[in-house]
Amino acid sequence: MTAVPAAPAQIVDRCARLTRPALREAVGRLHPWVGEMAAYSFGWCDVGGAPVTAPGGKGLRQALAVLGAEIAGAPPETGVPAAVAVELVHTFSLLHDDIMDGDPVRRGRPAVWRAYGTGPAVLAGDALFALAVDTLATSVGGIEGVRLLSAALGDLVRGQADDLLFAGRPWTGPRRVRSTEYRRMAEGKTGSLLGCSLALGALIAGASPAVVAGLDRAGRQAGVAFQVADDVLGTWGDPAVTGKPVHGDLRERKKTLPVVSALESGSPAARRLAALLEADGDVARAAELAEEAGGRAAALAVARRCRASALSELDRIRAPARPARDLRALLDGVVVRSQ
Ligand code: IPE
Ligand code: IPE
Ligand code: MG
Ligand code: MG
Repeated sequence: MTAVPAAPAQIVDRCARLTRPALREAVGRLHPWVGEMAAYSFGWCDVGGAPVTAPGGKGLRQALAVLGAEIAGAPPETGVPAAVAVELVHTFSLLHDDIMDGDPVRRGRPAVWRAYGTGPAVLAGDALFALAVDTLATSVGGIEGVRLLSAALGDLVRGQADDLLFAGRPWTGPRRVRSTEYRRMAEGKTGSLLGCSLALGALIAGASPAVVAGLDRAGRQAGVAFQVADDVLGTWGDPAVTGKPVHGDLRERKKTLPVVSALESGSPAARRLAALLEADGDVARAAELAEEAGGRAAALAVARRCRASALSELDRIRAPARPARDLRALLDGVVVRSQ
């Protein structure tokens, strides 16, 4: 009998339930004020610390870490320290990212810097980073795990640096941002942590270096697909679903793939889009023109190709059937959410 494949939401939920107690315990070790900011961003409390249930993020990275451990043949619990570490790092990166991007809303609520102030949000991010390192250093992954995480963070910082620098570059002309540059930036800012999540889960479960490296590559490709999907949602998505404002990237002159691809199409709509963007014109109209110039379709095609690369990396790894199937389902969901 063939088992019915689990839906992405069920897979994430299973992993989140497994990880949550350890995540709560770790956050509970922070300075109470800093811990409150962390709990606020996880959707566990309101400003002031009153318990609430608010959206705390999709939990993708923790699920990847748990699945990484299962792919290595270990029970899911083995991946929990890696899951806690990557979820803490992810939250740290969001706290700082919203400050860098000037985005006032995250997960449907005021971003931490808006709710608590910029200085406190920087501090809370630092605290989450330190907590992630401590979680890994005291786990079975030890120094190897910390090395994997710090390498991913180095790439994340490189990606974030390019993302910020690209915003200062023109939309057209010889200094424009090419889609190849976008790909490298997205792999750094987003792919590195997705790759690290899978790899770290497998590492602490005792996987071979070849499996760890293969999972890292798969996660990086999935991460580019995920970032492209995020860009599509940021341009045409519903803020009630994404929990983030629409058109923020266009306002900030961020070089997202849908817009870069639209401009590269060379069509009449692309020329109108270029003129509008150079003049800092209406962002809603820019989104319409980007779609007309084929930017949305081109970006989604890239996302599908990256997902396919991620899946073929997985094919090269000998993995137990159930976690392999769950991981495939999760990666499928990454692109589907933006179509
Ligand atoms: C947001 O990641 C940052 C990106 C890399 C695009 P998610 O969309 O996974 O954020 P949450 O955790 O679900 O809020
Ligand atoms: C997020 O990039 C990457 C990191 C936080 C490291 P974005 O700035 O594109 O993501 P959102 O749209 O704010 O979630
Ligand atoms: Mg951002
Ligand atoms: Mg950003």
